[in-house]
Amino acid sequence: MSGALEQARLHPVPIPADSVGNLLATAARAPSIFNTQPWLFRITTHAIELYADPSRRLRSDPAGREMLISCGAALFGLRLAIRALGYQPVVSVLPEPERPGLLASVRFGASEPITSRERSMLAALPRRHTHRGGFSPDPLPRGLLIGLQHDAVVEHSALALIDRSVAYTQLASMVAQASGSLNSADQSRADVRQWVRLPGSLARDGIPADSIPASPVPGPGRLVQRDLDLGRGIGQLSPDGCPPAATAILLTSADTRTDWIRAGQALHRLLAHAATQWVFASLYSQPLESAPTRALIRSRLGLPGAPQLLLQFGLARLAPATPRRPASGLLAPVKPR
Ligand SMILES: Cc1cc2nc3c(=O)[nH]c(=O)nc-3n(C[C@H](O)[C@H](O)[C@H](O)COP(=O)(O)O)c2cc1C
Repeated sequence: MSGALEQARLHPVPIPADSVGNLLATAARAPSIFNTQPWLFRITTHAIELYADPSRRLRSDPAGREMLISCGAALFGLRLAIRALGYQPVVSVLPEPERPGLLASVRFGASEPITSRERSMLAALPRRHTHRGGFSPDPLPRGLLIGLQHDAVVEHSALALIDRSVAYTQLASMVAQASGSLNSADQSRADVRQWVRLPGSLARDGIPADSIPASPVPGPGRLVQRDLDLGRGIGQLSPDGCPPAATAILLTSADTRTDWIRAGQALHRLLAHAATQWVFASLYSQPLESAPTRALIRSRLGLPGAPQLLLQFGLARLAPATPRRPASGLLAPVKPR
């Protein structure tokens, strides 16, 4: 048991009931695969427990890898929200092996004021969004990519920059080759039909039509995006704008459930950091849903870890945030396993 956890158990801080709504709402601003928001929380006297909600797992994610990355992202949001209350979060990941659905238990640890960096990440969460349209032509702020790599390392992950043109060309061609068959796979199409919302939908989950490009055709310098439209003509996002400024792959050293939760925390941390400087990302996980393509990307690019997500970054001034379910709907009805 870590010293911080031992201290948190010896001197337990009660979870402040009047902050629970805000804590969960902040956690729920996390990105999630198809905006499925596959998380549930249980509040005990001294801990907030995070569970996966398997009823929200995609058909194309049988192992739950993308579901756990999403929940890891929510865990980072929860940690940040606890920092805003002036406490260090003390996290036990997968604390009870006999209850695999319990992904993390989070306690309040020592009091410590929020830092200015954490405060600016928190302030950026409402504008952080997955950016599928064109970017602005400006270069990324100096030093940002190194900062994002540092974020990943802090969360026990790594962010590999694909900055050599030969490596980018290889990656783009592997993604393009895989996307044809993946986009037409029955499971994938069923996921899109279930989770992409039609224009005018009032749903608080799923991907709204106004965050989907009107045309899935990639521009130069942009990887082929997941086809969220399926030829229905529902995408409403203008394809105008510039290509992304940088391409990267989020990696973990191994490929266990713990690594997936780590990858999610790293993802949300670096996306929140980027958003402080109005830099947003396009996310691509579809090629990694195919085991052979995932293995090929890893070996061809000589990646020093398991690829968890492909990202492309750029500046944007428009920040349409996607909806979330209300915090009251995120509480586990009974103690899940
Ligand atoms: C594990 C994971 C995989 C994702 N894969 C894709 C993807 O393949 N294509 C895409 O356009 N967005 C992808 N996203 C982004 C989600 O669709 C997005 O986070 C969700 O719709 C919520 O919207 P927001 O990020 O704008 O808040 C992914 C997000 C996560 C966490």
